[in-house]
Amino acid sequence: MVEPRRSAIRSAVVFEALQAALEARQSTHEPDPQPAPARSLRVVDLGGGTGGLAVRIAQLGHEVVVVDPSPDALASLENRAAQSGVTGSVRGVLGDAATLHEVVGEHSTDVVICHGVLEVVDEPAEALAAAAAVLVDHGCLSVLAAQRSAAIFGRAIAGHLDDALAALADPDGSWGSTDPVPRRFSRQQLASLVAEAGFTVAEVRGVRVFADHLSGAVVDAEPGAADALLELEAAVATDLDFMSMATQLHVLATRS
Ligand SMILES: C[S@@+](CC[C@H](N)C(=O)[O-])C[C@H]1O[C@@H](n2cnc3c(N)ncnc32)[C@H](O)[C@@H]1O
Repeated sequence: MVEPRRSAIRSAVVFEALQAALEARQSTHEPDPQPAPARSLRVVDLGGGTGGLAVRIAQLGHEVVVVDPSPDALASLENRAAQSGVTGSVRGVLGDAATLHEVVGEHSTDVVICHGVLEVVDEPAEALAAAAAVLVDHGCLSVLAAQRSAAIFGRAIAGHLDDALAALADPDGSWGSTDPVPRRFSRQQLASLVAEAGFTVAEVRGVRVFADHLSGAVVDAEPGAADALLELEAAVATDLDFMSMATQLHVLATRS
């Protein structure tokens, strides 16, 4: 199975960081202290789509609500949760960033995940404000968003030089109507956006520094290449010298 392996490589840095943040959050006892064993966390996956991440988090023992405006995505989420045996721990709710507080309640949530969403919403600042509103004090935010510099670099080295120039000239880093991603961010932009929404940025990682610039054939054909790539991605994820080449930026922040 080649594609699941590639997808696991792409998500490994994020999942490991998120898992560590969940464990750290579990070991704090605010605002709802519970005795050991560590309590399950209330997690909201805003724009969680078909629930690939939500199911994995539920498998760690947490309660996850996926809020998404796509009925099709939520139907897939339901199937995925059933197939994975976590139906009782994952709930899909039709909604969006604007209705988040109505759907899950203010100050009700330990962790909000917002992955691949700031690129597509009308107002990224409003989506982050909505996340802040539903989090408890010191609750955790996980943001994953496309990085502008890596997209421009990727288009250029793939030979799409006009796209690279167009994306360079566009403040949102999009190369126009053929670009599937409407908006991308610089590291500074994303960190500022998160901070301005009332969060303290704790960690920033570069995700897919090499994976998307490397031919899939190398990973599939060379023995040991997938493991080496995983090791490389993990080794450079927090290294600023490599971060601008990362397709995505992962930010972990705490509600101030
Ligand atoms: C690129 S997908 C990301 C899905 C998932 N979070 C992931 O990382 O694979 C973007 C998701 O955002 C959802 N979305 C679009 N507009 C939204 C909004 N205003 N509020 C919340 N989610 C939105 C889409 O339905 C879609 O599921």
